[in-house]
Amino acid sequence: MVEFNLPANSKVMRGKLFKALEGAKDIKRFKVYRFDPDSGENPRLDTYEIDLATCGPMVLDAMLKIKNEIDSTFTFRRSCREGVCGSCAFNIDGTNTLACTKPIKDIRGDVKIYPLPHMPVIKDLVPDLSVPYAQYASIEPWLKSDTPAPTGERLQSPEERKQLDGMWECILCFCCQTSCPSYWWNGDRYLGPAILLQAYRWIADSRDEAKGERLDNVDDPFRLYRCHTIMNCTNTCPKHLNPGKAIAEIKQLLLKRR
Ligand code: SF4
Ligand code: SF4
Ligand code: FES
Repeated sequence: MVEFNLPANSKVMRGKLFKALEGAKDIKRFKVYRFDPDSGENPRLDTYEIDLATCGPMVLDAMLKIKNEIDSTFTFRRSCREGVCGSCAFNIDGTNTLACTKPIKDIRGDVKIYPLPHMPVIKDLVPDLSVPYAQYASIEPWLKSDTPAPTGERLQSPEERKQLDGMWECILCFCCQTSCPSYWWNGDRYLGPAILLQAYRWIADSRDEAKGERLDNVDDPFRLYRCHTIMNCTNTCPKHLNPGKAIAEIKQLLLKRR
């Protein structure tokens, strides 16, 4: 678990308090990381009091309420609001997760919302994800086959299709990626759990004919072997996937072909 309480010497300043309207009955405080690079100021933690009686049940509902009713400058990504697009990933209550599927009632005390850890912040809760997306492109996430395409679909047996379970569900939210200590320290060279899970998704696909090339692509002391099986990635995945296992499968395949 990654905890972000403000230490005494923190450069994150205490920010403004936005009080709930008079008559609010069920008040919950949301402490939210704010950073505007154009202001030249240090980041701050703003506090918003929300009346849960007039708010939807998920953390994203409260965030939208803040943006729509209190402070339109509050900046964050979101789209589907049902755990499918992967854009509303933040560090909430000390854990990387999706705001749209995180019930407010599961959080005791104030709700603390920070950007995904150890990524450069563009504004407020929006991290710069250009490095992980470039790493994603580097594993060439598309079907590669020299066999001429059939007139219909490329068929798989039910068993072959089953090999992809636990991987096709990945929504590239990067909760795992940004919870991995190895990725924190070596993010420029280590591919990280989300990208390695995606790499294995193609290695394990019976229709793909580039398995050797794909294994060569990850067989590197930094790209793959910076994983030390700490398993933060698997513990944090909001889709209950197991990137740590996918990484272990890749290592096994590489071991077998040595
Ligand atoms: S298992 Fe590997 S990828 Fe997952 S958190 Fe640990 S070091 Fe990172
Ligand atoms: S494995 Fe899970 S945490 Fe990681 S990117 Fe995919 S859905 Fe998100
Ligand atoms: S808004 Fe799409 S996953 Fe949360």
